[in-house]
Amino acid sequence: VTFSDDNSRVIAELPTGERVEVLLYGATVISWKDAQGNEKLWLSEAAKLDGSKAVRGGIPVVFPVFGTAPDHPQARDLPQHGFARTSRWEFLGKSTSESMDGRAANEATVKLDFGLSSAAQGLDPIAPKHWPFKFNLIYSVTLSQKSLTTSIVATNDDSAPFECQVLMHTYLRVKDITSVEVHGLANAPYIDKVDNLAAKTQSDPTLTITGETDRVYTPQGDPTNDPVTVVEAGKPRYAVARDNLSNVVVWNPWTDKAQGIADFAPKEGFRNMICVEPGAVGGWQSVEAGDAFEGAQTITLLD
Ligand code: BG6
Repeated sequence: VTFSDDNSRVIAELPTGERVEVLLYGATVISWKDAQGNEKLWLSEAAKLDGSKAVRGGIPVVFPVFGTAPDHPQARDLPQHGFARTSRWEFLGKSTSESMDGRAANEATVKLDFGLSSAAQGLDPIAPKHWPFKFNLIYSVTLSQKSLTTSIVATNDDSAPFECQVLMHTYLRVKDITSVEVHGLANAPYIDKVDNLAAKTQSDPTLTITGETDRVYTPQGDPTNDPVTVVEAGKPRYAVARDNLSNVVVWNPWTDKAQGIADFAPKEGFRNMICVEPGAVGGWQSVEAGDAFEGAQTITLLD
């Protein structure tokens, strides 16, 4: 496993060529390539990577609030999607398992660990101001040949409980959104954010994207064994499995919304992305003092 850390981003590459790149700002995964060098994530050409703004694309980490929550006593003053994506995380180290321990080169994996706490230097100043809890986050990014896993442990180091939401805002790269189908959402209840938060149920077992889409699903299948899958032109491409994350947000801004997002480029880029975002965002996770919330996603390449 080859590896580089230049104090602003961490890059790891497996012997077989798969590669992942994580920006310390937001602990945002900004690139994930397969052995042939094909990019699997969508990153806006206008994304700010200098720490001046949350990254548009890749996998931003959403914590401790999804969207905004003006009615929630603890989270009401937080900016959209919280402060994890606008804080500079610390790189805690890597662990690898490769041929040295008897595995074949094609079974090598690398895990990169990142940390952010209420005492961290890189914490967005908005956090102590509007969410004054003692907390510790560990975010791990594990690359293997056919999959990428991201997992989070959010520990309450305070003396009182806090409530939080967690989400991994994955921008998956696709060739043409009009030939994409999302499977695994059959009969799932969802909140339609483009229809006044109306509560609906996914009647068609296949979801296609034909306009602005912003839905908070609660998939009905087993989160590990019945992953949400992205199929393109009839071919399965990505399986998104979850651990302890009961929701999946599906988002595509489509034409008008993309126009209005300053750092969204090119404007036609919405055709090359679909956000499939595992999270715990339907309600609030109450974390007792000394306790932790844990959740993870694994995206598997099917092509
Ligand atoms: C999605 C939300 O998760 O993120 C959308 O459901 C939102 O409502 C989108 O527009 C992008 O958010 P942001 O803050 O990165 O522009």
